[in-house]
Amino acid sequence: MKKDILNVELGSYSYPILFGAGLLHQAGELLLAHFSFKRAVIITDNNVAKYYLEPLQSALQNVGIKVDHFVIAAGEGSKSFANYQDLCEKILELQPDRNTAIIALGGGVVGDLAGFVASTLLRGLPFVQIPTTLLAQVDSSVGGKVAINARAGKNLVGAFYQPKIVLMDLSTLATLAHAELLSGYGEVVKYGLLGDADFYQRLLELGGVFEIAKNTELTQQIIKHCCTMKAEIVAVDEWEQGRRALLNLGHTFAHAMEKMADYKLLHGQAVALGCLMAMRLSELLGYDISQAQITALQNHFKAINMPIKIGDFGASINWDIEELVNCCYGDKKASNGGLNFVVLHAIGDAALQNGVAPELVKQVFNEFL
Ligand code: NAD
Ligand code: GLY
Repeated sequence: MKKDILNVELGSYSYPILFGAGLLHQAGELLLAHFSFKRAVIITDNNVAKYYLEPLQSALQNVGIKVDHFVIAAGEGSKSFANYQDLCEKILELQPDRNTAIIALGGGVVGDLAGFVASTLLRGLPFVQIPTTLLAQVDSSVGGKVAINARAGKNLVGAFYQPKIVLMDLSTLATLAHAELLSGYGEVVKYGLLGDADFYQRLLELGGVFEIAKNTELTQQIIKHCCTMKAEIVAVDEWEQGRRALLNLGHTFAHAMEKMADYKLLHGQAVALGCLMAMRLSELLGYDISQAQITALQNHFKAINMPIKIGDFGASINWDIEELVNCCYGDKKASNGGLNFVVLHAIGDAALQNGVAPELVKQVFNEFL
């Protein structure tokens, strides 16, 4: 399959995203063609390390790069102050210089944590993203948001720190669990809903992520399309002063559910349900979203086993609607004490809605219980 490239245009911080199958094995040449470095520290997690650490190490060593690595435990719990400190101290023991590259090899957890380490060590070391989940390939590895979690909530301590290059090896998706593929697909659908009605319609017709995954060329096209949409938004609003907030469609609902579930939900699956909720909220607010459109997406999700109700996440969580609404106030997008949501004026046309009445949010949560 053809290698492909997309540039994220950010002036002197612009960077390429490379797409293709098997890129990991060419990582040495591909990275060196883009920037010069002699040492690298790979940060990965224990699942990803099993499959991809050795190939990446070899690819880098083959072009003369000295490589160290650290393996963190897989899972959201690793985006912690403790891991951040531990990684910083351990990397400092290696006496890095300004050109030592920090390479994130993994999903969004590794990317966010490694990126935050890179952004602060020696006031910023060159950072490389090698995303290995669908979610990380369509979203988290692009745009420079890096973060760890705090007691008060997810991603509350972080930075905007762009990578030097993003290397997407589509072959890595072959070892990804179905549930994780589904999670990434939640973010894919989000892109269609927020900004591209034709793309959204095509997704509904393609029959879902597992159908798409059977065709590597189609998978690459879809991942590139999502990255193109994200790159365009990031290029005009890197610091999320306006348009970038639209990428958070479904996220205020999702973050509330994730917080109440103690971050045990898969992020993209929560976003998928959050998007359904955002559609319903938009309908209640009188925008051009119909019940038929909501049902169509529900049916699409149902056919691929994506949660379409809060209860689908499992009976062990004690969902409290008042608490869910309270969590929406705690979200980063809540300002001036009000409830702010990304809504849809129509499919493919997202907008920020400030001061949403809590009763409406409560009604939506209740309807999706
Ligand atoms: P993740 O990083 O936890 O990865 C999911 C699971 O898949 C993990 O168990 C991991 O070990 C495993 N895995 C990863 N790649 C694999 C592969 N190729 N084969 C087999 N197993 C593999 O989760 P995620 O969904 O990638 O990312 C979620 C995180 O991303 C959250 O912390 C979220 O806050 C963050 N996020 C950040 C941004 C951003 O812009 N920075 C955007 C969206 C989400
Ligand atoms: N994932 C949302 C953003 O990068 O802005």
